[in-house]
Amino acid sequence: MDTDQQEVEKPTEDHVKTFANDVNEGLSQTPKKMNSKYFYDKKGDELFQSIMRMDEYYLTSAEFEILSLQKEKIAQAINYEKGHFQLIEFGAGDGYKTKILLSYLLEMGADFEYIPIDISENVLSQLVTGLEAEMPELKVNPIQKDYFKALEDLKSNDQRKVVLFLGSNIGNFTPENAPIFLSQIAERLNPEDSLLMGVDLKKDPHVILAAYNDQHGITKAFNFNLLNRINEELGGDFDIFNFEHFPVYDPVSGATKSYLISKREQTVSIGELDKQFYFDQGEPIFMEISQKYSTKEIEQLAAKSGFEVVNHYYDCKHYFTDTLWRIKP
Ligand code: AVJ
Repeated sequence: MDTDQQEVEKPTEDHVKTFANDVNEGLSQTPKKMNSKYFYDKKGDELFQSIMRMDEYYLTSAEFEILSLQKEKIAQAINYEKGHFQLIEFGAGDGYKTKILLSYLLEMGADFEYIPIDISENVLSQLVTGLEAEMPELKVNPIQKDYFKALEDLKSNDQRKVVLFLGSNIGNFTPENAPIFLSQIAERLNPEDSLLMGVDLKKDPHVILAAYNDQHGITKAFNFNLLNRINEELGGDFDIFNFEHFPVYDPVSGATKSYLISKREQTVSIGELDKQFYFDQGEPIFMEISQKYSTKEIEQLAAKSGFEVVNHYYDCKHYFTDTLWRIKP
């Protein structure tokens, strides 16, 4: 494995400062908010993996089905047999679904290099170790960065690129910001490149809300973990028993939003910031958006971002789609 692109970031003072700055900025706004990229420390990775295994969280099994049943068609459509390409994945995580595609491409003798990008060093090293054991012939070049920093690495070279953005990770962008990020990907692609993106579809609101409001309390723990992270890494004194987890789904906009609601009037101090934050009773912290789209909205998103749709691949329930795009000529 090459190591030139590998930049394993340790929780240095710099990282603590960036985290502290982002928390300060978010908690100083009205409404208060967190950046959901901070969910993914070791504990957060474990909780998200548990979420993916829950029956309520249909997204993972739906996309697993799409890739399992339609991998031949998808591989054809990305022109795997037309010479060398880089397979670049934003938010690779544990690669549970991607491995279906990876092993199929290897089996077909495709000539490619896999570049998984993830913000979590923990999950990325798990992924790389797993792949070395399961697919020793696969060339892997991991990048441990957030999406925006990783974009800078995606410089226009003459290698053909297939970008994967699976799992409805695009849902963490607001509908206003999604085309801004996707345009930045488009700018770095050539006409023979493609983007395969997993998008969660609008559907029965009960089904959607249950995925973010599970009875086991795993999603709740996933949200609280970020407060615990602030306590541990930034010297905060959040008492999670003073907050309630409250997800909502708006069927018109398709936004699923998770909030933590302050149960009472309280003040929280953050040592690293040497600052206190006041919470009113009932005051929300906006933790995460998980945006849902209709097929029509996906097509509008493609057009807005400088892409055109090649094909949508659906699961049998039409809960989810992997949509394949190329840049607009
Ligand atoms: C990893 C962003 C796709 O929004 O569905 C799962 C994260 N949050 N349950 C999503 C998440 C709460 C997930 N993504």
